[in-house]
Formats: sequence, structure tokens, C-alpha cells
Amino acid sequence: MEIIPEFEWYKIVKELKRYKGTTILIGAVDTGKSTFTKYLIKELLTNKVKVSLVDSDIGQSSLGIPGIISMKRFDKPKDFDSFKPDKIFFVGDINPARKISIMVDGTMEMIDIARTEGVKTILVDTTGLIAGNEGMTLKMGKIIAIKPKHILALQEGDELEHILSLIEGICIHRLTVSPYARKRKQKERIEYRSKKYLEYFKGSRTIKLLHRRFEFFYNGKKIDIQEEPIKAGCLIGINRNDKTVALGIFTGLLLDKMFLKSPLKSFKGINRIVVGDIVP
Ligand SMILES: Nc1ncnc2c1ncn2[C@@H]1O[C@H](COP(=O)(O)OP(=O)(O)OP(=O)(O)O)[C@@H](O)[C@H]1O
Ligand SMILES: [Mg+2]
Repeated sequence: MEIIPEFEWYKIVKELKRYKGTTILIGAVDTGKSTFTKYLIKELLTNKVKVSLVDSDIGQSSLGIPGIISMKRFDKPKDFDSFKPDKIFFVGDINPARKISIMVDGTMEMIDIARTEGVKTILVDTTGLIAGNEGMTLKMGKIIAIKPKHILALQEGDELEHILSLIEGICIHRLTVSPYARKRKQKERIEYRSKKYLEYFKGSRTIKLLHRRFEFFYNGKKIDIQEEPIKAGCLIGINRNDKTVALGIFTGLLLDKMFLKSPLKSFKGINRIVVGDIVP
């Protein structure tokens, strides 16, 4: 897909190159956030600026898989050829409004890793949830936690102003939406997610494990799966403590055994299963 840059994008590249730090991109659905993010990564790499991308769009994830937040570090232009995450954080939903605090925690976890790796330029792509109280709570929650240097606000009219008007001390770049930004139908969004899951689970095997080896979590709290059964077919996060190592699909329980499908080869060190609300 060819990206057609807006004239004002050239200035943003210069600004991000000059004033390094974390940049969050916000805008309604289909305003071109992910496309602009990709453009910025490519341009910054061409300008020899190392970049990490944090994809916190759990609905139409570009780097990761729907339902997760992910991170990748780009050191050189060639790194763009493999657009796959280095690290993932399982959220377990495709609707951010249902998991606002987990969304903020997961985004911060990925940013902290990028910062610890010493990358100074971090781009955070987000969901299109901006409207009303939910949009404001989610975006403000992220902005307060991240303390970004730049906010790239893509808007057609003034739909972001209820959020932007609350922000002080951060450089806000108000940008127009590209005329090439295309509205995608719900069907296209669903098909995109299915394709992502198919790709991820391709070549997965069925795994049988003793379920007492694991602790189970749902919405940030420990659960007893005998009392709160897991839905068959449900997407799960496979964790080492609070770090997501891989994803799985829970297929069932039988006596002391748990069955799941995953591309993960070794379960050594895995001690936690995070249950989500997605049945791919
Ligand atoms: N500058 C551009 N040049 C060419 N195509 C573009 C441009 N901007 C957006 N598009 C197209 O418009 C569509 C929506 O863009 P994109 O996915 O970047 O939006 P988004 O804001 O990330 O959407 P979402 O909120 O669903 O994550 C895509 O098909 C993309 O290819
Ligand atoms: Mg997007």
C-alpha cells in the first residue's frame, strides 16, 4: 500500500527528530493514525533515528494481534521488513472501553521496556475511541501515565478538543486528516481480525497441561476456574508472572488437565493464564 504523505507531515518528522521523546497519535477511527505512524517510522529510520513502536490499538492492531498491546524496536530501515512484535501484553478484548485501566497499564509496560532499552523516540499508536467520557478517560489515562513529549492529533473538525483542552505542558500538533484516509466497513474490520488470528495460530498444536500448575487471572484479578469456568474457544494470554509470552486458545478442561492450542513450543516457566473476552 502506497502512503501519500500530507505536506504537514514533513515538518513533524523534523520536530520528532529534533525533540526526541515519546509521541502519542490520537484520532477517531479511520483518521489514518496507523498509516501516519508507519510513515514516521520509515522517515525517522531513513534519518538514522532509532524508533520503537507501541501499538496500543487492540481492535485493528497493525503490529500485533487484536486483543493485545505490542512493541517493536526498529534500529535500521531493514527492520521494517519484519513488522512483527518483540514484546506483547495481553488485554483480552477488542473493545478498549471495557478494559480502560488494563489498557493504560499495558501501554505503559511496553513503553517502559522501550525506554529501558534506551530508545529515545517512541511512537504510540492508539484505538479510535475518543468520543465521550470513555474516550476522554482512556486517552487522558494514557497521556497522564506516558507523559509524552508530543501529541499528534488527527481530526476532521473539533472532535478531539474535549481531550486536548485538558492538556497542559505537552506539545500538541493538530493535524488534518489525509484525503486518502479511507473508512472501513465493519465486515472489513472483522475479516482483518480473523486474518490476524489465522496467521498467528497457523501451525499451532494442541497442548495438554495440568491446570494446577497455573494461576488464572481475569480482568486483573485471580480467579478459580472451577467456580468461573473458561469459555471454550476463548483467547488466553500465556504468561510468565505478569509478562505475556504467547497467546493461546483454550479448548477445554478434563479432570486435572487443561487443553489449549498455541504456537508456543515450551511451557517452561509459564505459571499464569490470563483469560480474555475474545472468541476468535
Ligand atoms: N496518507 C494516506 N495515504 C494512503 N492511504 C491512506 C492514508 N491515510 C490513510 N490511508 C488508508 O485509509 C485507511 C485507514 O487508515 P488507518 O488504518 O491508518 O487509520 P486508523 O486511524 O489507524 O484506523 P483505526 O482507528 O481503525 O486504527 C487504510 O486503508 C489506509 O490505507
Ligand atoms: Mg489504526
